[in-house]
Amino acid sequence: MSAHGTPIPMTSHKCGPLSGEAHVPGDKSISHRSLILGAMTVGETRVTGLLEGQDVLDTAKAMQAFGAEIEKKDGTWHIHGVGVGGFAEPENVIDCGNSGTGVRLIMGAMATCPITATFTGDASLNGRPMARVTDPLALFGAKSYGRAGGRLPMTIVGAADPLPVRYATPVPSAQVKSAVLLAGLNTPGETVVIEREATRDHSERMLAGFGATITSENSDEGRVITLQGRPEFTPQDIIVPRDPSSAAFPVCAALITEGSDVLVPNIGLNPTRAGLFFTLQDMGADLTFENMREEGGEPVADLRARFSPDMKGIEVPAERAASMIDEYPVLSAVAAFASGKTHMPGVKELRVKESDRIDAMAVGLRAAGITVDEGEDWWTVHGRGFGDVPGGVTVQSHLDHRIAMSFLVMGMATENPMRVDDGQPIATSFPIFETLMGDLGAKITRA
Ligand code: S3P
Repeated sequence: MSAHGTPIPMTSHKCGPLSGEAHVPGDKSISHRSLILGAMTVGETRVTGLLEGQDVLDTAKAMQAFGAEIEKKDGTWHIHGVGVGGFAEPENVIDCGNSGTGVRLIMGAMATCPITATFTGDASLNGRPMARVTDPLALFGAKSYGRAGGRLPMTIVGAADPLPVRYATPVPSAQVKSAVLLAGLNTPGETVVIEREATRDHSERMLAGFGATITSENSDEGRVITLQGRPEFTPQDIIVPRDPSSAAFPVCAALITEGSDVLVPNIGLNPTRAGLFFTLQDMGADLTFENMREEGGEPVADLRARFSPDMKGIEVPAERAASMIDEYPVLSAVAAFASGKTHMPGVKELRVKESDRIDAMAVGLRAAGITVDEGEDWWTVHGRGFGDVPGGVTVQSHLDHRIAMSFLVMGMATENPMRVDDGQPIATSFPIFETLMGDLGAKITRA
């Protein structure tokens, strides 16, 4: 929803120890994809563990506008889809709220249907670049009419006779890759996406699960993903795993909060998503993977995080960026409590997320007493070590859930409280954040 209510300031006070189990909500990426692919499948797809954050609810509403029937009964989401190529033309503007994943994937899915749809979002989403998806969608034959700079609100006129596409993504983005693959579904022949750096592969896994013929192989050009168009989809029963990007917050909070010992059960460790956890281990965090197992074809573990006062700053490998792209804000908060510098190269994409995340974090960290250096595609946080981070400031969340949560986590260990001007965006991805952290022992107040 674009309507943004009165800001909700939140303050996080020094606390500790944090202890207990943190049952974080379902994976946001997988939740969006379950709804979209379910909506493109005739028959009933059932989804449990769906993230009921605003981003995903907006995608559910959008899928209803394109003709799918979606309802929640007894904790399970039931989706009756319209089939590949079966989308109806929405009667109204599609409001994707804060969600780049929602709007970009839906644009891809409808771009090869003979319909027209207009998309909008909140102030954050309407400022984000859409040409990265409309450029490849134009190759299928879709037309787009947006604001200057390829911004929303934007109308997409779907291609009536789509042509198959071979597309090398110019930026490492699972949203772009997924938009092209979803457009390829209602396109005859083979759609090929090539990505130089592997990004999260949930679309590929789920497309195969629904019955598409899709292959991925590594070549000199990078990862080559080939999809056969016009598949016969079979409805699925999907159990959405818990979100490693949400798990990051209680894990990082435990590492910097004196005496903490927190278990975060059932977290997917898909290698395209788990980069933060390996980075924290490289910094010397007391973070272990317990009960390693396979579930639904994905590696899963219970994460145990204990207070780690002796973490050291490191050089985060640039090639790890895609697998932890959403976790840099909270990593930078942890890095403030490590000794020495944490250098994070290869992260230009952070500048076009829900906010410019390098800028949003750097401004707040500096105000809280931390030195931060930055360039267009890198930044360095100069850690002060545990017990020496002043805090005591109000920072702006810029309509960005991960910025708000990162500063609230930081405030659990700064000498003085950290206040964010608006914690409302947290509901887009982690609606139970305040209660979950409070149950562990955090002191977050609304003021
Ligand atoms: C997502 C891809 C990433 C990530 C976002 C979710 C997805 O965005 O930041 O939170 O579900 O495909 P980019 O594709 O822009 O890297």
